[in-house]
Parts: sequence; C-alpha cells; structure tokens
Amino acid sequence: MPLEIIRNDITKVRADAIVNAANSSLLGGGGVDGAIHRAAGPELLEECRTLGGCETGQAKITRGYKLPAKYVIHTVGPVWRGGKYNEAKLLADCYRNSLALAMEYKLESIAFPLISTGAYGYPRDEALKIAISAIGDFLLENDMTVYLVVYDKASFVLSEKLFSSIAQYIDDQYIDEHPEYIRSRRLEAFQAEEDSFLYKESVAAPVPEEKRRRSLDDVVNNLDETFSQMLLRLIDEKGMTDAETYRKANIDRRLFSKIRNDINYKPSKTTAIAFAIALELNLDETRDLLLKAGYALSRSNRFDIIIQYFIENRNYNIFEINEALFAFDQPLLI
Ligand code: APR
Repeated sequence: MPLEIIRNDITKVRADAIVNAANSSLLGGGGVDGAIHRAAGPELLEECRTLGGCETGQAKITRGYKLPAKYVIHTVGPVWRGGKYNEAKLLADCYRNSLALAMEYKLESIAFPLISTGAYGYPRDEALKIAISAIGDFLLENDMTVYLVVYDKASFVLSEKLFSSIAQYIDDQYIDEHPEYIRSRRLEAFQAEEDSFLYKESVAAPVPEEKRRRSLDDVVNNLDETFSQMLLRLIDEKGMTDAETYRKANIDRRLFSKIRNDINYKPSKTTAIAFAIALELNLDETRDLLLKAGYALSRSNRFDIIIQYFIENRNYNIFEINEALFAFDQPLLI
C-alpha cells in the first residue's frame, strides 16, 4: 500500500530515506533528531554542518551513514503557537518539500515521524490530519511508498464519542458470538452516550429502502461475475476512474492492473475492503464484493466489526476508520 502507518522507531525503518524533525540549525537536538544522530553516527553531524541550517517548512538531504536508510531528509516543523501563525501551512510544507526532495533523488520509499508533535507541541490529531492530507495529495499524482511512523499510541487521538459508539457496536455484535465475552466496562458510559451515534438519525440523509438493499435482479444477473468483473462494474456505476479508485483505496497501481488484467484474480481481504470503502459501497454491496473474492465479514472479528460499523454509519473517512482500528489494536486499512 502506498501509504502505511506503522508503529516503530524511525531509526530502524529500512526506507530509502527517513525524515528528521530537526531544528533550524540542523546541528542535532533531542527527540527524533537526537535518535537519528545517535544511530547515524558523527559523520551525519559533520555533513549537517555544511548545510548552513534550514528554514521552517523547508527540507535538506544528507546521507544516512550508519542508519539502515540511505538518506536522511531534514525538515524543520513549526513550533505550535496557537494556530494563528501559519503553522498548518508550514507543517504541510515540511511533508511536501521532503517528498519533492525524495522525488528529485528518485527515491522509492520514505518514512516520516509525526513532525512538530513532540517538543514543538503541535496537537497530535491535527498534525496527523495535515500529514495524511499532504501525503495523500502527493500520492494521488506520484508513485512512492510512504511510511508514517507513529512512535506512541497517544498519536492517535480517537474522540471519546467515536470510541464509545464503536465499543458498544463491538459489544452488540461480538457478544452473540462470544457469550463468555465480558461486556465492556464502558457499558455504563454508553447510557450517557445513548444519542451519540456517529450519525444522528435526524442528520443522516435517510436512504430509501429500495436503495439500501440490492435488487433481486442485481444478484441474479451478476451471480457468475468474478471479483475483478464486479469491481470494474462498480467503478463504472459509481462514475469513478480506475486511478481515482485505486488511489482512494490506497492500492498500488501495479496491483490494480493485475486485478484489471486477470479476470480470476483473488485479492487479499484487506484489499477487497479497501476498494469497498473507496467506492463507498453499502453493507450488501460490500458483502457481495467480498464474497466474489471468497471472504465474508465476520461478526467475531473486531476488524470486520469496525469496518461494518463505519459502512453502516456511511462514514467512509479513511482517516477516522484508521483512528478506530488503531485505537482497538487492529491492523490499519491504510
Ligand atoms: N521514532 C519515531 N518517532 C519518534 C522517535 C523515534 N525514534 N522519537 C520521537 N518520535 C516522535 C515523537 O513521539 C513525536 O511524536 O517524533 C515526533 C516529533 O517529536 P520531536 O522529535 O520532539 O520533534 P518536534 O516536535 O518536531 O520538535 C523538534 O525537538 O528534538 C528537537 O532538535 C529538535 O529542536 C527540534 C525539536
């Protein structure tokens, strides 16, 4: 997948380049800056001395020396001062300029820490959204594998309301399959959150019943359709292009062309689900598409239950889906 969010120490990541959250002197510091300099060895500092510093939002490149990564791209994030000093643009520039430098050096992979979210105090959830948005925009036009390296769980700030609603949904689905499952200690909180569903019925546009369920002839006419055929049909029906679909699903272009060219291609379950989210399928369409690849959404698998929750609530925001998967220790969709 072109964008992966991983939990690791960035100095251990084997990407072509890792990005350093540096300060304008480029002469080292604490946090990820200190960790990278320690792991790279003294030659990194020697090369940094020749760079003459770096402006906030800009990026400069050095070799990686003792690091597994061939290069280090040093960028300087904005210090958070309340959000009225162009911080959001400067932070996005850090990602954009680092990616531009990686393209210039024809790199195939790059790993970012969450820039500015440590000593520089940028609110994590805002910084995460800016990072994913800047990287996502880049990946819509370019091919590169981008890792967003999250060092601690606090980086994913899932709102209490969303967490409670999903925990309750898991309870409701999971309990039937696992009677021994102790109802979550959050149950008493649910009573207080009773009306806190992601989409209050009053605001969610009611979908007419005939649209909610697939029509009988839909099913009969497409019984012998393969996964690949169904996917391509749905892309046409949704009025999307191939590129829009695979980029929104965060699927590599080469994998998509394999699926397009091999009528009997069997994707992984995660890939099939990623396409369902990108195409904003309802639960029936999602189940049909998964079935074509030989999979089903299980009610005893938390990952599947969380995906079902978002599809039932018609929330296809890949960012919130990943926040939820991360918060429940599930593999991420992106
Ligand atoms: N791997 C991945 N991420 C890490 C690592 C690591 N080894 N160490 C820290 N982080 C994470 C932090 O948890 C934080 O989320 O990197 C993010 C950025 O934190 P900082 O390193 O403090 O960087 P920043 O907030 O941009 O502040 C930069 O701090 O270290 C100094 O010299 C640096 O002055 C500069 C300032």
